[in-house]
Amino acid sequence: MVTYTHFGKQPDVLKHLVLCEVLQIEKPQIYVETNSACAIYTMVHTPEQKYGIYHFLNEANEDATFQNSLYYQLENESMASGNYLGSPALAMKVLNNDVKGCLFFDLEKRALDNIKSFARHQAVAPPIRTFNCDSTDGVLKLLPSLPKSTFLHIDPYEIDKPNSNGHTYLDVLIGATKLGMKCLLWYGFMTINDKQALNKSVSEKLDKAGIKDYACSELIMNAIKKDTIVCNPGILGSGILATNLSQKSNSMIQDYSKKLVGIYKDARYKEFDGSLYHDTINKKQNIKIKRHL
Ligand SMILES: C[S@@+](CC[C@H](N)C(=O)[O-])C[C@H]1O[C@@H](n2cnc3c(N)ncnc32)[C@H](O)[C@@H]1O
Repeated sequence: MVTYTHFGKQPDVLKHLVLCEVLQIEKPQIYVETNSACAIYTMVHTPEQKYGIYHFLNEANEDATFQNSLYYQLENESMASGNYLGSPALAMKVLNNDVKGCLFFDLEKRALDNIKSFARHQAVAPPIRTFNCDSTDGVLKLLPSLPKSTFLHIDPYEIDKPNSNGHTYLDVLIGATKLGMKCLLWYGFMTINDKQALNKSVSEKLDKAGIKDYACSELIMNAIKKDTIVCNPGILGSGILATNLSQKSNSMIQDYSKKLVGIYKDARYKEFDGSLYHDTINKKQNIKIKRHL
């Protein structure tokens, strides 16, 4: 059984929309994905997917910017045959064979088999390698052998939970960023308390590592509460943390996030308010907290 069941939900929209555009702008030589899951999924039209990819495709039909996005074009075509493309497929399709290689990590062998099978059926696909192991240690070990032109897509759920060797996905981001590699890290949270704890831990760790230049964009449901979970469309808030990207990519991330708020303004998830707001890690606020300690 493949465990990733969140495909096509609302947080995938932000993550995958941004990923496709960033890859096209940054043109990396090597693409590494830490938590790949499958390349392609059969849609089941759940309320969560309705609030996610179906809402996006409907609304994007009225919006020229979204219609021109790679994500819209790739998913619109794939969804016509009832399939959602996960990040490995999107990355392979955007990068084609302009990239030297794509390295996919996952604990699930079946997910990696799905990626290999998808790649075999493409007319044009980059060379791929798969790694069936824990990617925290796997990627940390691989980093010194990778060129600076590598792009890391770090997509776990928990980014600051240590593995059995005490390493976290934030350590992976920090290690790769210090080597000059471009990174995109996705994280999620269910309450405002979780968000605040995560924001504090991320900004403190980046500060300690001397990484000051990063971009962050979060989309959060207005229905989110301080410490209780009122509904579950997959996740109530998610963020993207980007390091070493060009100004063009950083601006695109902010622009697309704000535009997504626009197309979700009247959205509903079941009987709940499905509207979103945009936020970012408040670096100044974190500095103030530190000064008061
Ligand atoms: C968040 S999803 C990936 C979604 C995918 N990147 C996308 O955007 O379409 C989670 C995947 O991470 C894998 N995973 C969880 N822990 C892992 C670990 N320590 N190392 C490698 N893969 C892991 C799971 O097996 C699952 O397939």
